[in-house]
Amino acid sequence: MFQIGPYKLANSVVLAPMAGVSDLPFRRLCLEMGAGLTIGEMISSNPDLRNTRKTLLRSRHDGEAEPRSVQIAGNEPAEMAAAAQYNVARGAQIIDINMGCPAKKVCRKAAGSALLQNEPLVEYILKAVVDAVTVPVTLKIRTGASPEARNGVAIARIAEDAGISALAVHGRTRACAFKGEVEYDTIADIVNAVDLPVIANGDIKSPKQAASIIEYTGAAAVMIGRAAQGQPWICGQIATHLDSGVTPPAPNCDEQFAIIMRHINAVHAFYGDFMGVRITRKHFGWYMQHLNSDPGLRRAFNALQTCEEQLRAIEHYSQITESRTTNIEVLAA
Ligand SMILES: Cc1cc2nc3c(=O)[nH]c(=O)nc-3n(C[C@H](O)[C@H](O)[C@H](O)COP(=O)(O)O)c2cc1C
Repeated sequence: MFQIGPYKLANSVVLAPMAGVSDLPFRRLCLEMGAGLTIGEMISSNPDLRNTRKTLLRSRHDGEAEPRSVQIAGNEPAEMAAAAQYNVARGAQIIDINMGCPAKKVCRKAAGSALLQNEPLVEYILKAVVDAVTVPVTLKIRTGASPEARNGVAIARIAEDAGISALAVHGRTRACAFKGEVEYDTIADIVNAVDLPVIANGDIKSPKQAASIIEYTGAAAVMIGRAAQGQPWICGQIATHLDSGVTPPAPNCDEQFAIIMRHINAVHAFYGDFMGVRITRKHFGWYMQHLNSDPGLRRAFNALQTCEEQLRAIEHYSQITESRTTNIEVLAA
């Protein structure tokens, strides 16, 4: 049983926080399709940004299943504590702290994974946030700042002492960004070093792979990021496989198009026409990577300018795309 604070989760598969991807429509879809927990896109702790359209959209939870986990990013302990309180007041039931993101926009301000090289500051931030709220606080890290400074175990001990309720670890260092192989040895070392639940993350693309990483590292759960793009059902497939050893088939082609329609309608309703059309292009491209590899189709879709045109096109593509079942195990082989 995977538990974070008082929350007993339905299973041990977590959808990763992904700015620009894990918005409310995508989180709701992944939860509905079997994820045990989802984490929202990071929200800056800077109070000056609280009322921007981007932050307001990222702070919405209407219709979202519990527990609602909200990720905050920043580098100033008091500001992070205030951001945690602010988000709890707006419905967050778990606060997740971002010390895993290598994005320049985050790291320029020495936030995200750049914080990992400053262990005293990590400790201040974690203690300040844990003390500020009564909800569980979780932490997301990489294995260290660079391969030469892989201090994931030290950070995990700091996290445990500070009262962090669960720790997600992406098996790359900050310096590695998204390049090179993920290594799971440091994740296994962290699992051995601390008692808090550890969530293994990085390049997990299939149910079998998730099972072997849990076995190898001893992690309590897995976190799925990019593999869920265009496959919101994958968390559910992994969860069933971890429970029973059996991988349910992915939805067949017709079912996938029905899911796409539902997703895209939700994106349009959530963002409105202008942003909705642009965000849909991204998701549609990910869905088509698995369903229809014709590059002309994606180009044509990206030229569409309205929600109605996009919905009509998806309807049309659903009729011309060959009906078949996508077998995730084959895709991941
Ligand atoms: C588009 C994108 C946006 C991301 N945004 C965040 C974020 O807001 N916060 C965070 O902690 N990590 C973020 N990440 C990192 C992911 O949570 C995850 O750690 C990483 O993608 C590795 O997992 P994966 O190999 O399953 O994708 C992002 C990754 C991607 C691809």
